[in-house]
Amino acid sequence: MTDLLIDKLPKAELHLHIEGTLEPEMMLALAKRNNVTLPYDTVEEIRAAYDFDGLQDFLDLYYAGMSVLIEERDFHDLTWAYLEKMANQGVTHVEIFFDPQGHTDRGVAFETALGGIVTALEQGQREFGITSRLIMCFLRHLPEEQAFDALHSACRHKEHIHAVGLDSGEAGNPPENFVRVYAAARAEGFLAVAHAGEEGPAQYVTDALDILCVSRVDHGNHALDDPALVARLARQKTPLTMCPLSNLRLRGIATMEDHPLKRAMDAGLLVTVNSDDPSYFGGYINDNYRAVKDALSLSPDDIVTLAKNSFAASFLPDKEKQAGIDAVARHADGFARDAD
Ligand code: HPA
Ligand code: ZN
Repeated sequence: MTDLLIDKLPKAELHLHIEGTLEPEMMLALAKRNNVTLPYDTVEEIRAAYDFDGLQDFLDLYYAGMSVLIEERDFHDLTWAYLEKMANQGVTHVEIFFDPQGHTDRGVAFETALGGIVTALEQGQREFGITSRLIMCFLRHLPEEQAFDALHSACRHKEHIHAVGLDSGEAGNPPENFVRVYAAARAEGFLAVAHAGEEGPAQYVTDALDILCVSRVDHGNHALDDPALVARLARQKTPLTMCPLSNLRLRGIATMEDHPLKRAMDAGLLVTVNSDDPSYFGGYINDNYRAVKDALSLSPDDIVTLAKNSFAASFLPDKEKQAGIDAVARHADGFARDAD
C-alpha cells in the first residue's frame, strides 16, 4: 500500500550526481558514438563490476565511466534520460550535482558539460514542469588550487549554477582543505553544500558547518555519532540529504536495517531521501524510499514527512517550497480517501 503512495507522491531530489545516472546501456552507446574504448563489451560485464567494497572502489569506476561523455549532446542525453525517469516518479524539482573537474581534466570544456546539462534541464521544465537547480562540486581528492579554476569558470555562468558542493573521496580530504575556495564561492553569491559524514567522522560535518558555512549537509550519517551535533542540526534545521542504497552498496552500513535515517527523523532532523548515483547503486529515488520504508518500518506519515522535507530542504524560494509541501499533502489526502 505504502509503495503505491510513494510511486506518484510529489517529491524533490536534492542529492544526485548527474554522472552517476549513466546507465550501462548508455555507457556502451556513447562509447561507440565517440570511439572510446572501454574495458567492457556488454551490459552484464559492466553490471558485474558494480560490486564495491567502499567509496574509493566506486569512484574509480565512476570516473572511468565518465570517459564516454565528450560532446555537449552526450551531457544532454544523460540529463534528459534522468529527467524522463523522474517525471514518472512524482519528482517535480531536482537539485543536481555535476563534477566539472572530472571533465576538464580529460580535455572536455567546462561549457560543453554545462551546456548539455542546462539545455536538458530547460527542456525538463518545459515538457515535464520539473524545476531545477545546478550544484557544481569540487573534487576533494584534488588540490584547492584546481577547485579555484572550476570556481572561476562557474563565475562566468552564475545564471545556471546555484551552489557549490564537495564530493569524491572523503577520508583524508577534510573540509578545512577547501576553506578559501568556499569563502570565495560564497563571496561570489553561490550557496554552499558539502558531502560530510559519509565515510568521514562527525567532526567533518561540524567543520562543513563551521568553516565551509554550508546550508545543507550531503549524507551526514556520522553526525549521528555526536549527540551535541545532532541537537545542533535539529535546532538549526540543517537538512541532511541521505542516500540509503548508496550507503548500503558502499558498505557504510551492513544492512538497510542499520540505516540511521529513522533515528535522525526521531531526533528531529530535517532528513531527505535521495539516490546519489542511481545507475551504480541499484535504484532511483523511489527505490530508495521503498528500501527505507521496508527496512525501517516507516509509516505512511513518515513517507509524507520525508517528501515534505524534500521541498523544505530545497533551494526553492519560500513560496515554491510551500507549494511543494501543499502538493504532497493534497496527494496524501487523496490517496488516503481512495484507500477507504
Ligand atoms: N560520495 C562522494 N563523492 C561522490 C559520490 C559519493 O557517493 N558520488 C559521486 N561522487
Ligand atoms: Zn553524493
